[in-house]
Amino acid sequence: MQTRKTRENSAHNPLSRPKISIYIAASIDGFIARQDGGLDWLDRVGGFDEDYGFQNLMNSIDALIIGRKTYEVASTVPDPYPGKRVIVLSNSLHSVKEGMELYCGDLAVLVTKLHKEGIQHIWVDGGTTISQFLSSQMIDAMTLSIIPVILGSGIPLFNVIGKEIPCRLASSQSYPSGLVQLRYEIITQFDDSIDKIYFKIIEYGSPLYKKSVALREELLRKPFGLFFTPEELEQEKEHVHIAGFLGEELCATAVLVPENNELKMQRVAVKGHFQNMGIGTSLLLFSEQYARDHGYKAIYCHARDTAIPFYKKNRYALEGVPFDENGIAHHKMKKSIEGSV
Ligand SMILES: NC(=O)c1ccc[n+]([C@@H]2O[C@H](COP(=O)([O-])OP(=O)(O)OC[C@H]3O[C@@H](n4cnc5c(N)ncnc54)[C@H](OP(=O)(O)O)[C@@H]3O)[C@@H](O)[C@H]2O)c1
Repeated sequence: MQTRKTRENSAHNPLSRPKISIYIAASIDGFIARQDGGLDWLDRVGGFDEDYGFQNLMNSIDALIIGRKTYEVASTVPDPYPGKRVIVLSNSLHSVKEGMELYCGDLAVLVTKLHKEGIQHIWVDGGTTISQFLSSQMIDAMTLSIIPVILGSGIPLFNVIGKEIPCRLASSQSYPSGLVQLRYEIITQFDDSIDKIYFKIIEYGSPLYKKSVALREELLRKPFGLFFTPEELEQEKEHVHIAGFLGEELCATAVLVPENNELKMQRVAVKGHFQNMGIGTSLLLFSEQYARDHGYKAIYCHARDTAIPFYKKNRYALEGVPFDENGIAHHKMKKSIEGSV
């Protein structure tokens, strides 16, 4: 049976570097070659009059960056990547095939150089190589073709990347050969409508409340050797607790403290790999909507120096002079809710 599930997604964001894609085949257990480099197992999905999008990829790229080990296999073919610029990464080689280029050094520098030279879309290939690009957060799209076999051992698709990278499924397709192709976009900015990030009010003392206390303690207190005291948490009985989720994963939390006709927003925390991806702004919007719905006239917070640009971007204005809170300089930042949307 052949199934196809596709979601046409946002166009590629304009970048200050070329778009960089992964297109690679792997066994079900995540190997891209046998331990000795053997690729014979890929043949079982050949002969089905299907190129699995390879020609489309070739038409869309203008350069490849490949690891030395991938180069050693590819260079056994006369013209493996016709018409494409090929850069081989190696610290050990002194030369590569005519028409190809050799590079060793900083990958960001290489990408910037290629960008200046007019390159717009790069395919990176080789397990070690793609892992380095992922680690440097320089991958935009990833096409994985899963071959129906468990190899048991081999060269891994991914090495340890050392960070969590949120991905968005763009399409999935199965073929009569049994190959399943998964296309992912790397998320650089969450989109609430596509990624199903949602916010809700959680009950004081509930299991979700306890999770949110743990999240903000981890982010806001532990780095300073501090914890929330039972007295502080007791006071929170009277406060409004907001939590943000991706699926069921808690990714952000904030506390709103009613003060006459204003709300003080405090203890805003966004989980590590969700930071700088638009979730903080969505959390503010949810809080402001809560304030509006409940008749408050303004919402304010005490922001650290580093957070000032974020609040300014969200139209919070500085009020008064900086003051000290737990030995750290803070600034009052406020936004009027009346009339704003
Ligand atoms: N299933 C598939 O679709 C697929 C696709 C591609 C490759 N493959 C197979 O996968 C195997 C190769 O993968 P792999 O993970 O072992 O290796 P790879 O990524 O192809 O090559 C690793 C080598 O690239 C060089 N390298 C990587 N990053 C570098 C940097 N920043 N600066 C300088 N040199 C750098 C180093 O070469 P030096 O040691 O010379 O310094 C390193 O040992 C091959 O058997 C290939 O046929 C399979």
